[in-house]
Amino acid sequence: MNTVICMSPRRGSCERLTRLIHSRAGFDPVFLREMTFSACDGCGACDHTGVCRHEDEAKRLWERIRGGGKTVFVTPLYFCNFPSQAKAFIDRAQAYWQRREKCPSRFYLIAVGGRGEENNFASAYLTFRAVCLTAGAEEAGSLYLPEVETKEDISREYEEKVLKFIE
Ligand SMILES: Cc1cc2nc3c(=O)[nH]c(=O)nc-3n(C[C@H](O)[C@H](O)[C@H](O)COP(=O)(O)O)c2cc1C
Repeated sequence: MNTVICMSPRRGSCERLTRLIHSRAGFDPVFLREMTFSACDGCGACDHTGVCRHEDEAKRLWERIRGGGKTVFVTPLYFCNFPSQAKAFIDRAQAYWQRREKCPSRFYLIAVGGRGEENNFASAYLTFRAVCLTAGAEEAGSLYLPEVETKEDISREYEEKVLKFIE
């Protein structure tokens, strides 16, 4: 199953892109803002077991997206990285670090940001790369969309770029 995860806490440009990927490419949409889950508290249980002790929606979503297919992470930049709710979800992948297991999944990053500087997305990319390594997924690619503040800033050109990127 292919999945697209909207990592923005608000209904804006990331939601618009998520719905586009759902309607035009058939990916199953997930909205992180609707989920309830614990942040990683560094308890260390997974260091011994490779399994997170928190039984919640984050654990189930990680299991699902590691099960195969494509997963697209659609995120805004908040201070050059993922918003805090999204980062809390990402941290929960730490449970897979000890396992050093490859999974049959391909991960894609689409990041939007209000600013237009070249290195604006560097920090989010490093986090995304660490996610792929930790989860054991293939890093399939990253697409950056600068000068996006609201959903109205998603141009036809950006929509076409996104659909081509996830083909
Ligand atoms: C708390 C906060 C921090 C932000 N930090 C950045 C930033 O570091 N770089 C940037 O380009 N845009 C930044 N932005 C702008 C958002 O990335 C931009 O508005 C984006 O389109 C939001 O996505 P959304 O419409 O899906 O909510 C920030 C916005 C907020 C609310």
